[in-house]
Amino acid sequence: MQTFTEFSVPAHVAIVMDGNGRWAKRRFMPRLTGHAQGVKALRRCVKACLERGVAVLTVFAFSSENWQRPEDEVSGLMGLLTSALGREVAQLGREGVQLHFVGERRGLSERICAGLDAAERETAHNSRLVLNICFNYGGRWDIAQAAARVAARGEPITEASLNAAMGLAHVADPDLLIRTGGEMRISNFLLWQLAYSELFFSPVLWPDFDEAALDEAFAAYGARERRFGKTSAQIQSAPPAQLPV
Ligand code: IPE
Ligand code: IPE
Ligand code: MG
Repeated sequence: MQTFTEFSVPAHVAIVMDGNGRWAKRRFMPRLTGHAQGVKALRRCVKACLERGVAVLTVFAFSSENWQRPEDEVSGLMGLLTSALGREVAQLGREGVQLHFVGERRGLSERICAGLDAAERETAHNSRLVLNICFNYGGRWDIAQAAARVAARGEPITEASLNAAMGLAHVADPDLLIRTGGEMRISNFLLWQLAYSELFFSPVLWPDFDEAALDEAFAAYGARERRFGKTSAQIQSAPPAQLPV
């Protein structure tokens, strides 16, 4: 087993969990089977992040644009969310995971919203790993809702005021973004928060994404030099810092 220095383990990892449909198609199975396997891959990934000392994991589970998929796939994904909540929340709580659901609640059923609220309440006291599940989330929606909230309070729109009203205001920006499934795009994920994240694109389809694939991404991250606009010489004389807000 590979071991990692603390430096190569990012504090905040964000993941676009892509490739469930293709994973299923290759096996002549329904797309929903791929999504069900995707839930298992997320469970495995949470465990791996806990073991490696990651502080925050943010995953893209359902985008604002995913409503455009066939009705049976959308309702299947809602069903998977409900069943995963029922099955996993208590155990995640015991493992020290603090859950947050980030995204627009409008459009989700009352039953789902109640489940999301309960899961957040039940795990709020935990601090080992913050798990943000972006569901019915879009980066543009996030920026627009933050601007609307700041404007409604009559406050000036600044980087700091917007940042404090965004869906991920409770955590620092992602250090590393991983997208599985081989596509090299952001697909309206964290447009604001990814300003200085390191990007890693993996060809592995999300249901196959395992500890080794995660470690590969962390190793690539560990080899990067994060400069935040400074020169390499400046970074070598002082440790890297977060982008100041
Ligand atoms: C990602 O997998 C999961 C969701 C978008 C809900 P996809 O369903 O997009 O898988 P591919 O891209 O079709 O393989
Ligand atoms: C992004 O994947 C959304 C999630 C992983 C939830 P998509 O499969 O929807 O992205 P596009 O449409 O191929 O860009
Ligand atoms: Mg996809």
